[in-house]
Amino acid sequence: MKHLTWFIVFITTAALAFQGSGGTTRAPQRVFRLDGGEVTYVVGVNDSGQLQMIYWGKRLPASQEFTTPKSGQSLSSFDMSSNTTPQEFTGWGEGLYVEPDLKITFPDGNRDLVLKYAYHTTSRDELDVVMKDISREIYVKVQYHIDPTTGIVRRSAEVSNRTGTPFTIEQVASGTYHLPRATNYQLHYVTGRWAGEWDLQQQPIHGGKTVLESRRGTTGSQNNPWIMINHASDHDEDQGDVWFAALGWSGSWQIAIVQDAVKGVRVTAGPNAFDFSYYLKNGETFQTPYFYGGFSDRGVGGASRLLHRFEVDSLLPHAPHPKLRPVLYNSWEATTFNVDETGQMALAEKAADIGVERFVMDDGWFGRRNSDHAGLGDWTVNPTKFPHGLKPLIDKVHSLHMDFGLWVEPEMVNPDSDLYRKHPEWVLNFKGRPRTEGRNQLVLNLAREDVHDYVLQVLDKLLNDNDIAFLKWDYNRNWSEPGSPAAPAEQQKNVYVNFTRSYYDILQKLREKHPNLEIESCSGGGSRVDLGVMHLTDEVWPSDNTDAYDRLLLQEGFTYAYTPAVMMAWVTESPTWVNQRSLSLDYRFLSAMQGSLGVGANLNKWTQEDFAAARKMIETYKSIRETVQRGDLYRLMSPREGEQSVTESVSRDGKQAVTFAFLHSSSQLYPFPRIYLRGLDENATYTLRVAHGTMRDDTPQQATGGYWMHHGIDVELRGDLQAAMFILDRQ
Ligand code: DGJ
Repeated sequence: MKHLTWFIVFITTAALAFQGSGGTTRAPQRVFRLDGGEVTYVVGVNDSGQLQMIYWGKRLPASQEFTTPKSGQSLSSFDMSSNTTPQEFTGWGEGLYVEPDLKITFPDGNRDLVLKYAYHTTSRDELDVVMKDISREIYVKVQYHIDPTTGIVRRSAEVSNRTGTPFTIEQVASGTYHLPRATNYQLHYVTGRWAGEWDLQQQPIHGGKTVLESRRGTTGSQNNPWIMINHASDHDEDQGDVWFAALGWSGSWQIAIVQDAVKGVRVTAGPNAFDFSYYLKNGETFQTPYFYGGFSDRGVGGASRLLHRFEVDSLLPHAPHPKLRPVLYNSWEATTFNVDETGQMALAEKAADIGVERFVMDDGWFGRRNSDHAGLGDWTVNPTKFPHGLKPLIDKVHSLHMDFGLWVEPEMVNPDSDLYRKHPEWVLNFKGRPRTEGRNQLVLNLAREDVHDYVLQVLDKLLNDNDIAFLKWDYNRNWSEPGSPAAPAEQQKNVYVNFTRSYYDILQKLREKHPNLEIESCSGGGSRVDLGVMHLTDEVWPSDNTDAYDRLLLQEGFTYAYTPAVMMAWVTESPTWVNQRSLSLDYRFLSAMQGSLGVGANLNKWTQEDFAAARKMIETYKSIRETVQRGDLYRLMSPREGEQSVTESVSRDGKQAVTFAFLHSSSQLYPFPRIYLRGLDENATYTLRVAHGTMRDDTPQQATGGYWMHHGIDVELRGDLQAAMFILDRQ
């Protein structure tokens, strides 16, 4: 009977679409088109009832028609049609050897899954296509949304079990993006590790599969769930077709990039299939994470700018109007765990004096937290360090016209804590097996309802009892022994998904209860940065590496995928703890001003000159931060390619362009290469303001956008580790 219902729905929607199209014979009911920004995305139901990619790229005229797609030919008996058809969402069945989007084991041991079109619903920017297995009551709603401004497509899928019995999902993806056959595709992605995140890689796409992944329980920095693909011949910041994709998921994840038998490229992403399963009961649905995909014909720089625009206007918690990041001070590198009322008050006074707007007390304020050996889990104020609670410090910070932020690491517990002594069963573990510690801590099993409730309640109380504007939410190790002894055997692996959902739920609920609260996603640096967490947090910490030269490289890698609007960057000590490299205060400021500025140095060691210089830099930053945080970023010279690094940000209204230039070391009397600006109005006049450094003495004070872009500008930078900054104001 149910089959009959689906059939009737199909006929009805088909008829409506047919009439709407003016009655041609091209069967428009089988073709679905999404347009947004400068992008068109078209899929269709092919002659085998599969959902198939038709076109993804530059926006096509509205009058362009598409024919019903034909499924791919079997190449041979070794590569049946299911492997050569660019299917948008595949079940593992029908001789499929490429990455499936869904693989299920049924209670009877059967594992065959063949999904065919059942019906669809559409609205302006959305399309849902429901697929159904050829015999079982399994429905997959393949979901699309296109962002009207950037054309970024959001893919996801909802798997419904109406079979009458539970089944086990062995692998699930949000969907597959396809690029047509080409022989010169090039893949861009990032690799990394603690203090060395955001290392850009590029490699040709060859036959076979490339898997980028995290098996760590959270996003990780070894890979980040983001890729770009362009044609090798087009490798240019501002020219050429680029497709990009990013998964919004902060748990273990994978992106598989497969060049198939006909050299088409498939990009499939979802929760990592390694050690994964999800036990789905009858009547339940499984919603996948969002998998975003975009296109730009303006090179990798254009693709990054599109992503930045999307993140700021559509993704961040307060999009399209997220607040500009305040200049913050953070105590970590100054005091580590040795925080107390007097010391923090003294730092706060100094921070306020240079123009800081937010004072953040880092680790060490709670429980018996005097080192990383104890205290995590006990979120009560340490009475020795803060005999009167946090209130006197917070009041002091407010009296200095700053707001107050606090460090927390709520998903972790030290075995040396009251919480662990009371609830040793709350951590991820396999029964009777050792528990591997990282930084002397274990991971709380957030997938447990009682742990979720405890973490939520403890943070809620902290925020109710204290006037806290900002939480720096840290996470300093990855999973080991990911067992959930209290869960039934068949549901053990649900923890991979349920942990992340619980984490998101806590963030969401805290935001609802405390609407003015801002949160930073920090994970010992940049180990939890992705489009999932960015939807629930206001900023991220890209790396614990605060060496201002290293930061040029890290920040460049970061901005391929993520906006400077969330990229926190602190000015810290010189020589840096990372490399023992000595850098001037100006250099350190200019490097950090490319993102969202913070200060993390020990202000107790600063001279009067340092304070004066910092005051000036912070004042300048406030005058350009909207341009840096909201504007269009142009990576003019890459620190990876030589001695120089130059970035330019152009404000959205086009009135201001801010350029940062850095020299590693000059040699053989060579001048700094000429800088050619981008993104200016050719005919408008711009006045030059040199905020730091010197321009060649024949540089005009005013010139047209055309002059600055085509003639260029010469910066006088010589020596080692030098930096300059100039601003162009449109008249
Ligand atoms: C790791 C963070 O990335 C640091 O900034 C600092 O907050 C420490 N944790 C504190 O333990």
